Amino acid sequence: MAAESTPPSPSSSGVTGGAAGGWSDRFEQGLHPAIERFNASIGFDITLLQEDLDGSIAHARMLGRCGVITEQEADRLIEGLEMIRQEAAAGAFQPTIEAEDVHFAVERRLIELLGSLGKKLHTGRSRNDQVGTDLRLWLRRRIDAIEQALLRFERALLAQAEAHADTLIPGYTHLQRAQPICLAHHLLAYIEMAERDRSRLADVRRRVDICPLGAAALAGTPVPIDRRQTAEALGFASLYANSLDAVSDRDFAVEFMAAASLVLVHLSRLSEEVILWASEEFGFIALTDRCATGSSLMPQKKNPDVPELVRGKSGRVFGHLIGLLTMIKGLPLAYNKDFQEDKEALFDGVRTCLDCLEAMAILFEEGLVFRPERLERAVESDFSNATDVADYLVARDVPFREAYQLVGGLVKGCLQEGILLRDLPLERWQQLHPAFEADIHAAIAPRQVVRARRSEGGTGFEQVGQQLALARLRLGQGSSATSEQCGRAV
Ligand code: ARG
Repeated sequence: MAAESTPPSPSSSGVTGGAAGGWSDRFEQGLHPAIERFNASIGFDITLLQEDLDGSIAHARMLGRCGVITEQEADRLIEGLEMIRQEAAAGAFQPTIEAEDVHFAVERRLIELLGSLGKKLHTGRSRNDQVGTDLRLWLRRRIDAIEQALLRFERALLAQAEAHADTLIPGYTHLQRAQPICLAHHLLAYIEMAERDRSRLADVRRRVDICPLGAAALAGTPVPIDRRQTAEALGFASLYANSLDAVSDRDFAVEFMAAASLVLVHLSRLSEEVILWASEEFGFIALTDRCATGSSLMPQKKNPDVPELVRGKSGRVFGHLIGLLTMIKGLPLAYNKDFQEDKEALFDGVRTCLDCLEAMAILFEEGLVFRPERLERAVESDFSNATDVADYLVARDVPFREAYQLVGGLVKGCLQEGILLRDLPLERWQQLHPAFEADIHAAIAPRQVVRARRSEGGTGFEQVGQQLALARLRLGQGSSATSEQCGRAV
């Protein structure tokens, strides 16, 4: 019996012992109730129920095919497991902490349903290889969901970029106006980051896609199982070669969290920009009512809660990454109960990543509107074309450093007079250097300085047009090829 307060399990099913029958008869006393709660993972690992059933079904089928149990017994075990799936769908499978974890909960219910036949399911396996299998199956599906969420987010960015292929925005370094750029170019930079995220997750997925089932507790099993059969039935690409490694490897969880952390880093950086852009000071975007929230006190407020929450939630995922690394670093081979701590981290990391991607996709789909008139005014009203004055001289054979110094002095003079470079008459330009001609005004107009940045990967409209076309190709509906797979024109 698990605890004093726990009623004995039905003797008809023969379930006795700790964890409501999961452990052997060496235990005489029940667990202290507080320790039973402390030890139990059912409160969160019930999340793995579908994967646990899938793994058990594959295991039962394999036991039947290998002659460890009869095919009929395997059929009945599988029927029982499917019945538990139906009970769960109907909300009728609600294990309590007496069951300890999802694996015992399923086994216990199977024994209730099938009697002693149910006790054959766990032949040739352990919860150690079972939980590793469940976790990998679960994470593999979630990585696929995150891939889809990334695609939606990228498509939302692309739609905005396409709508703003001709819109200019100040480009910044040190958050100081630097040079005008094309707004599409700015948004495409985030698509590049998301493409790396997709590629990283695809890489992680390859190492999630390895089956530990059949490693048993740590050393393999004398039961004549066929690991390849279960791995294939569960759609795994390969099997762990070493049983100790199989039950104690959580590298894939760390790798996933590192990849998810970078997703969140990217979303958080974009969030910060959106928050700035939405401020009165920048005024580059207006938030629509779909994603903005109000203040309980200040009637005029419209707050960017969505990007703020994304920025804030990123910390959770980084925390899980450090938590996992710390949890694993001192563990001797093979399984240790510390591993139970991987689940809540993974569940929350996946949830946070999916939620944030969805929220940011919606924000770019319908939560914000760029304000081209404000952007236009911003790029017209500063000295961010100063480099282009220097480049104008460079094109007329003036050494760059000399040109740079000349323009620096010119900017100083303009600042003192309270005018901009475009306000200078031709005589002033020519006093500065005889190479200046009447075309200087046209050459430093913001649209022209952007157009002129034709270097590969630059913000010139032609370059950006090519990048947009490539992104369209990569993100075309149904396409999941990453930029790496599509390759870049060299
Ligand atoms: N709940 C456990 C976990 O999450 C399952 C494996 C338990 N194995 C064991 N030897 N106690 O890791």
